Amino acid sequence: MTTTEAATRPAAETIGHDRLRRLMARGTAFLGSEVAIMAGAMSWVSERHLVSAMSNAGGFGVIACGAMTPELLDAEIAATRALTTKPFGVNLITMHPMLSDLIDVCAKHKVGHVVLAGGLPPAGSIDRIKGSGAKLICFAPALALAKKLIRSGVDALVVEGMEAGGHIGPVSTSVLAQEILPEVADQVPVFVAGGIGRGEAMAGYLEMGAAGVQLGTRFVCATECIAHPNFKKAFIRGAARDAIASVQIDPRLPVIPVRALKNAGGELFTAKQREVAKSLDEGSIAMAEAQLQIEHYWAGALRRAVIDGDIEHGSVMAGQSVGMVTKEEPLADILRTLIDEGAHALERRSV
Ligand SMILES: Cc1cc2nc3c(=O)[nH]c(=O)nc-3n(C[C@H](O)[C@H](O)[C@H](O)COP(=O)(O)O)c2cc1C
Repeated sequence: MTTTEAATRPAAETIGHDRLRRLMARGTAFLGSEVAIMAGAMSWVSERHLVSAMSNAGGFGVIACGAMTPELLDAEIAATRALTTKPFGVNLITMHPMLSDLIDVCAKHKVGHVVLAGGLPPAGSIDRIKGSGAKLICFAPALALAKKLIRSGVDALVVEGMEAGGHIGPVSTSVLAQEILPEVADQVPVFVAGGIGRGEAMAGYLEMGAAGVQLGTRFVCATECIAHPNFKKAFIRGAARDAIASVQIDPRLPVIPVRALKNAGGELFTAKQREVAKSLDEGSIAMAEAQLQIEHYWAGALRRAVIDGDIEHGSVMAGQSVGMVTKEEPLADILRTLIDEGAHALERRSV
């Protein structure tokens, strides 16, 4: 049995597995994967090893470009292709100063799916990405924006609630899903993200009309994930209530909140915000530069925790589902557990 089969084929085919497969059909057709579960891009975490493990196991991996240069992204895509023949995507951040070059790199490699994160796509980026033949996936943080993105031609949406790890919006997954799915799920595939730790929740969103789901936190402790052992231990120890959102200290400096495990790094972020706000006051930097400095701060702090293992002063970005991460295990096992839980839930609901 191949790894893919091990992850996606149930020990015994049940009515629940059959229902799950049918509920996921639209998502799997769109992604080209065997199950409509995406491993959401996580900066520093979602590199060649996690991405290829996810896609090889039958799910859909996404490379996190984060603050990578076009050269680094070029190498990462090539290295991922060397590890898997299955489809995977690339996540680009809209505010990256070299976004246009990064789009060219994805086009050069004929990347099949590009995920644009970090705000509305800048002018021209939608046409350029779609013109390369890639399918474009964008984040919809509200119903009005979901409709606007669909009108602009995006191929699929991710609806991500504030339970998620990393940068978050103000609304919970359950509310966003109820607001957005009934209105737009018949127009484009919608993937629900944020706070999903078990297959029962995944099945619930599929029944509400989602084409699939995206999880991040649940995959961090995959054996194949290169995150530092300290980072993984923090996830295994962490409870839902430890994954808290950062606080904005200066009303003039709008900072996108970040959900991470509580640690001394939170105070460092407060100090950074004061420093940037002071520069704004003095007129030595403009607002766009101020916000970019904050984003660079997060990228650096996340690297410190994920790669260096400094989980005290770095940023341990994690969602509230962190309490459901209890051990390190092969990615195929995590995927298999999610699928079996989802299938059992659907089977119970069908009687
Ligand atoms: C450590 C970490 C880093 C992340 N980095 C990114 C990123 O670079 N780009 C992005 O679009 N989302 C990022 N996310 C969000 C994930 O892609 C995913 O949508 C989210 O984790 C889903 O919610 P969950 O954590 O509750 O499963 C990150 C999440 C985590 C936990």
